[in-house]
Amino acid sequence: MNYDFDTVIDRHGTSSVKYDCLNDIWGKDDLMPLWVADMDFPTAPFVREAISQRLRHPILGYTTKPDGYYQAIISWLRSRYALEADRSNIHYTSGIVPGLGLAINCFTQPGDRILVQPPIYHPFMWLIGRNHRTMVTNPLTPDMRMDLDGFRQKVRGCKVFMLCNPHNPGGVVWTREELYTVARVCHEEGVLVLSDEIHADLTLPPHHHVPFACVGPLARENSVTFMSPSKAFNMPGIAASHALIFNPRLGERFRNHVDTCEYGNGHVFSFVTVEAAYTHGTDWLDQCLAYISGNIDFVIDYLARHCPAIKARRPEASFLVWLDCRGLGLSQKALNSLFVDKAHLALNDGSMFGADGEGDGFMRLNVACPRAVLRQALTQLSVAINQS
Ligand SMILES: Cc1ncc(COP(=O)(O)O)c(C=O)c1O
Repeated sequence: MNYDFDTVIDRHGTSSVKYDCLNDIWGKDDLMPLWVADMDFPTAPFVREAISQRLRHPILGYTTKPDGYYQAIISWLRSRYALEADRSNIHYTSGIVPGLGLAINCFTQPGDRILVQPPIYHPFMWLIGRNHRTMVTNPLTPDMRMDLDGFRQKVRGCKVFMLCNPHNPGGVVWTREELYTVARVCHEEGVLVLSDEIHADLTLPPHHHVPFACVGPLARENSVTFMSPSKAFNMPGIAASHALIFNPRLGERFRNHVDTCEYGNGHVFSFVTVEAAYTHGTDWLDQCLAYISGNIDFVIDYLARHCPAIKARRPEASFLVWLDCRGLGLSQKALNSLFVDKAHLALNDGSMFGADGEGDGFMRLNVACPRAVLRQALTQLSVAINQS
């Protein structure tokens, strides 16, 4: 079956953060939304069908996690990543950010040091600050690799390292060697690794995602991995993800912590949709990734020909393109004004991913939209640049 990623769907008025919060953020709503990381493609049809199917029963009562939910996660991990798990390793959380927050509260105390590698998905930094932990940073190198020498020094004295695997922004797929070094150093220093792998299923061929827990026993025993079908199947509004914990001691501690407020219950659609995504998802996902790859090619080619001062980093995973706009020679304020006021585009301002200016001069573009939308957006950008 061929799936349609080309049809433009109006999302205004659906309480979509991406569309209906433009005015709150930018004070205007005549902007093309290319920011929040969800897709403008229809949610995978088998996920929607699972909801319809459940609604055919008229009672939405308390819901337990069916065996099919666990089996679907276990099979997906085995077939995609050769990662062996069993039921006891899987902990439902309502989202990856809530899961990370729970883990921070479970495994660290206020004031404890937590390491991140900016530019980094900004809620990592929010979670550290809002939970009164101390952020330590080991910025990525200019070509967006890990600074492993810096890592060895900075991680000392930390309680937790928050790994983004693959990395957002930039779509970096870490090598097994990089992850192995992290695993070894964190084991030696007694630092727990929280590995956010929400973008794993969106790894773009020919690249391969390596789950942190797969690099060896040191990693498997000393980590909490967060995964979800939410990004890959465009279902983040479902609020269903899972923490994978292979060390029984850590797993029990996490489960007890989650149970203090019964955060792990989930809702009536969470389990049927996760099961549907992982059971029926392969073909749809292959086609979606091919479309996204085509969009990335389109952006890189368009910018090279029409806006050569902006360099797009080709992501190895996911649909977020990190645009290096430093060649325009603008201040961050002027750069934002170019995109928002002149080009009428809503992208993520790169500076929000930095702890100390690491994202300045960059913008993050979400290309998970019909190509016609992307073409229109880039045309508006090149007109704005040429007129300024
Ligand atoms: C790295 C990363 N982690 C987590 C999330 C959000 O996860 P959730 O919506 O499950 O909290 C995103 C969304 O963009 C992300 O990029």
